[in-house]
Amino acid sequence: MNTPTPITLHINTEALPVNAALHDTLLTVLREQLNLTAAKRGCNQGVCGACTVNIDGRPMRACLSLAQHCEGSQVKTLEGLDGTPRLRALQKAFAEGGAFQCGFCSPGMLVAAEALLAEQPAPDAAAVRAALSGNLCRCTGYMKIVDAVLAAAAALRLERA
Ligand code: FES
Ligand code: FES
Repeated sequence: MNTPTPITLHINTEALPVNAALHDTLLTVLREQLNLTAAKRGCNQGVCGACTVNIDGRPMRACLSLAQHCEGSQVKTLEGLDGTPRLRALQKAFAEGGAFQCGFCSPGMLVAAEALLAEQPAPDAAAVRAALSGNLCRCTGYMKIVDAVLAAAAALRLERA
């Protein structure tokens, strides 16, 4: 029987007890048990990137990650990045650069971009495009998103100078 099992997930700064059946994805647990709804359910099959969260330092699709397999991993959602310098710079650049319209893709874009800037403080446009290549946007045409990530990276470098 595939009954829910009590497990503990390390999400943002907390160890959180949840119940997850074998087939329950991290996205389902985040949204339906923990009320962490920044990660969006778009395609629910690994195509759109709207559900992107950071697992052990890498952007991953929460809709393809089984919750039980995430025990022992450090999961960061957009909520957990809130207020951090990289996310603040990205949010400012997205807002000022008009890098979103409906905003549905934005949480996933921001999580993926934050992971890129954590690894590469001075990416070029090709690196930004590669990092965001798994995140689909139906509204913006992508150029403003790429420009916003580059602007955020430049602003962060200026802050550190
Ligand atoms: Fe996960 Fe689309 S909802 S990739
Ligand atoms: Fe609408 Fe990207 S802003 S999907």
